[in-house]
Amino acid sequence: MSDRTASQLAALERSAALHDQVLADPRRFRVLTGDRPTGPLHIGHYLGTLANRVRLQNLGVEVMVLVADYQVMTDQRAGHRLAATVRGVVADYLAAGIDPDRATIFTHSAVPSLNELVLPFLSLVSDAELHRNPTVKAETEATGHPPTGLMLTYPVHQAADILFCHANLVPVGLDQLPHLETTRLIARRFNERYSTQEELFPEPDALLTETPMLAGLDGLKMSKTRGNGIALRATEDETAAMIRRAPTDSERRITYDPLARPAVANFLDLLAATTGADPHRLADEIGNDGAGRLKTMLTEAVNELLRPLRQRRAGLADDHSYLESVLDIGNDRARQIADHTLMTVHDRLGMTYANRRDSRRPRSAATKALSVTA
Ligand code: TRP
Repeated sequence: MSDRTASQLAALERSAALHDQVLADPRRFRVLTGDRPTGPLHIGHYLGTLANRVRLQNLGVEVMVLVADYQVMTDQRAGHRLAATVRGVVADYLAAGIDPDRATIFTHSAVPSLNELVLPFLSLVSDAELHRNPTVKAETEATGHPPTGLMLTYPVHQAADILFCHANLVPVGLDQLPHLETTRLIARRFNERYSTQEELFPEPDALLTETPMLAGLDGLKMSKTRGNGIALRATEDETAAMIRRAPTDSERRITYDPLARPAVANFLDLLAATTGADPHRLADEIGNDGAGRLKTMLTEAVNELLRPLRQRRAGLADDHSYLESVLDIGNDRARQIADHTLMTVHDRLGMTYANRRDSRRPRSAATKALSVTA
């Protein structure tokens, strides 16, 4: 535990230095981030990563945003509602301020050459390394079943997500650090084994934000599937009702004590993240006004923060063809990049005989014969 905290602390420190470098020279960076489309994005996503993506985009960093539709299948079946969920996530991105003219929004399923990178990458990690990943372990436990092959290997897929476009900066929460370690390992090993002159893949860094992990209204990890986070798309009344229903404790006076009073502390953390104020100061300010006052303040703060975003979202969420065109354009761009990377990988692997997609070489007699009979 203390070991893990130490490596997390190191990552936080490194992130602070990176924030400065980004400010000094945003064009040196290409960012890739992603979300599993398991449901509507919520305030934890907004505070933890969306707002930061928008900030990076506006600074002039190139931003790639992946709707990780294959990754969803690690712990749930793909299903008939996936299309609506994916459109909803795209609407959440646009509402949050991601600009499709500057950023690239795309899905796994539309970029085959990205997915194909998983094959050579799998050869670069051991079975033991895959089993050791703490985030995969926790997610496997949550399913209550032994891990599927996809569950064990999705961090390798995630490495492909990041490396296909040579991203060097990955804004994520703390739970994603093990995946980033896998990505760095794969980049390093690929370079060592197959890039004798020039390294092909940069080792990307995590960019951690200041509110890396907010708990949900029930005190458990905020998650789309658990429904314990306030959805960006929720109305103001729904937001108020959700906060009103959330459990606190029976002590009237509000104090900030994460260990003894996790529920109240969690509310204060959320209010602090939403308003930028300090949770201790907020607790003092509320004092004997109790949980009722805390909840009113939180409701107002959340609704105020999300109001402009919700207004923008209302204007585009029902325009399916627009949302799909945003994805079409992003997918085309991602495909071009991925095709190029895969071709370079094939070169380095010596697979240079017959796999050129754009080959204009004359076809052999045998191929001609095949296409005639087909
Ligand atoms: N694993 C991430 C999550 O669950 C989603 C994701 C997929 C991702 N591919 C990525 C994040 C690449 C960063 C980079 O939230």
